Amino acid sequence: MYNIKPETFNFKSVKGISTKQLDEHYKLYVGYVNKLNEIWNTPYIQGNYLDSNATYSKMRSLKLGETYSLNGVKLHNLYFENMTNGNNTPHGLALDMITRQFSSYDNFISYLTNVGLSVRGWALLSIDSIDSKFHIIGSDLHDTGAVWLSYPILVMDVYEHAYFMDFGTDKKKYINTFIQNINWKVLNDRLQKYISFTKPICMNRNIACPMGFF
Ligand SMILES: [Fe+2]
Repeated sequence: MYNIKPETFNFKSVKGISTKQLDEHYKLYVGYVNKLNEIWNTPYIQGNYLDSNATYSKMRSLKLGETYSLNGVKLHNLYFENMTNGNNTPHGLALDMITRQFSSYDNFISYLTNVGLSVRGWALLSIDSIDSKFHIIGSDLHDTGAVWLSYPILVMDVYEHAYFMDFGTDKKKYINTFIQNINWKVLNDRLQKYISFTKPICMNRNIACPMGFF
C-alpha cells in the first residue's frame, strides 16, 4: 500500500513571493502526491490493464498519469527545497563549476532566465551522465522534455501557477525573485551527493569525469 506523504517546506523564509501564492502552489503539489498514491495503489489485476489501446485506453491513461504525477512530485520537492531556508549568497563548488562552464555567474543567470522565459514548465540546471557537465534543460510539462540519467542541481518552476497570483504576466520579475531565493547550500549538497555517487566509477578514468571534481 503506497502512502507517500507530501514534504513540508519553510515558506516563511521566501522573500518576495507571498504566502498565499506559495500555499496555493503547495496545494497543487499535494494533489500530485495524492494522485501518485492512487495510481500506484491500482492493483495489478487484468481488469485494470487489458484495456491498452495506444490512442485511448485505461492503461494509457494510467501510464500518462503516472509519469505526470511522479515527475510532478519529484520536481516540486526539488524546487521548494532549493528556494527555501536562505543561504542565498552564491558560493562553493556549484558556483565554481557554473563560472567555469558559463564564463561568468552573470552569464549563467542570463541564460537560465532566458531558458525559463522560453518554456512553460520547468528550467533545470543538471549534470548529464553523457558528459558529466552542467546543462540547463527546459521543459513544457512535468513529463515532456524530461531527460533520463540527468542529475538535477537546481530546479525552477516556471508554470504560470508558480507566479501568476503575485506577478501577473511579469514572468521575468518572478524569475529574478526566485533567483534571489536560491539556497546555494542545497545546490552544493546535491553536487556532493552526485560526486560521492559517481566518484568510484569516475576514478576508473575510462569515462568523462565532472570537470573540476578530482
Ligand atoms: Fe508547480
